[in-house]
Amino acid sequence: MNQLTVSISLVMTVLCHNALAICDNDLVTSFLASVKASSTFDLTDKSTNYGPDRAFINATEVKDASGITQMGAWVAEKNAINQWIQIELQDPALVRGIVTQGRDAQDQQWVTKYRILYSEDCHTWHTLGAFNITDKFFTGNTDASSPVTNMFDCPIMAKCIRVNPLGWNKDIAMRVGLLGCPLNLQAVTTAAPTTVAPTTAAPTTAAPTTAAPVTTATMTTPMPPVTSTVQMATTPMPTQAAITLPPVGPKKGQCITSCLGRANGDYQSCTGCDVYITCVWSSMYANRPCPKMQQWDDNLKRCDIKSTTCP
Ligand SMILES: *[C@@H]1O[C@H](CO)[C@@H](O)[C@H](O)[C@H]1NC(C)=O
Ligand SMILES: *[C@@H]1O[C@H](CO)[C@@H](O)[C@H](O)[C@H]1NC(C)=O
Repeated sequence: MNQLTVSISLVMTVLCHNALAICDNDLVTSFLASVKASSTFDLTDKSTNYGPDRAFINATEVKDASGITQMGAWVAEKNAINQWIQIELQDPALVRGIVTQGRDAQDQQWVTKYRILYSEDCHTWHTLGAFNITDKFFTGNTDASSPVTNMFDCPIMAKCIRVNPLGWNKDIAMRVGLLGCPLNLQAVTTAAPTTVAPTTAAPTTAAPTTAAPVTTATMTTPMPPVTSTVQMATTPMPTQAAITLPPVGPKKGQCITSCLGRANGDYQSCTGCDVYITCVWSSMYANRPCPKMQQWDDNLKRCDIKSTTCP
């Protein structure tokens, strides 16, 4: 590691800690979320509801006034790895972690392993990434009733969160909650353009200590100028040294080095064809790596084996 990398890692660590200190409200019940799913078990039986609206933490199986049995979880129609449940928050929020729970019933159904996708606009999805892998798998539940909490390495800004079950006991059935806090957009845009660290930041060394809950998302600590984040774009990720770099880099005019004034979205990074940048309200998630041997395609707006736009 050179000195620049070290100092940037420190900045990112500080940023993550700042964000971590904010709050861990229950976003799903406190923030007017709407929930939908890829499929729902037994839709033909009108006397039961296994729908995603049954996915809130501590939901119990109850027969309602009209005689419909409201189940104690969302249950997918198929047990397959392409299923998902999606929580859409009323407004973008800083999401710090997730709580999952199995189904309230005698049926011994729960999700043991899952992946998280998130989106600022509910159309373009990112996988919640670790430092050098594109997908991070979370360990879920081991029984039907105990809630299991997984905190993220760094918080993410998202309006939509998708949970994609990858392993389960008997059937895909789950209750889900999100931890974090609403974003004060005004405060983030004007006062602290670099409030949120990229999910690719170096892992923090110390676990966050319990901080007093703060009621708003307004950052009070002065933040470094946005140029310190821009500088990060010039520092190659250590793990990419082993990857064969393309002979020619991104073309000028087809890549970006700053998010200032740009619409939210993903863009080609000028650093290399195998990295892209996510802009969220002028905050920059710099140097997000494509999976190994893949390159950013700026037309498709995703990483692919061959890019039509770079070099
Ligand atoms: C779920 O129930 C447990 C046990 O009663 C309680 O401690 C916890 O706060 C509840 N969680 C939510 C999100 O309601
Ligand atoms: C991530 O990087 C670390 C350190 O370079 C390495 O030990 C680990 O194997 C890498 N993991 C993956 C999935 O590439």
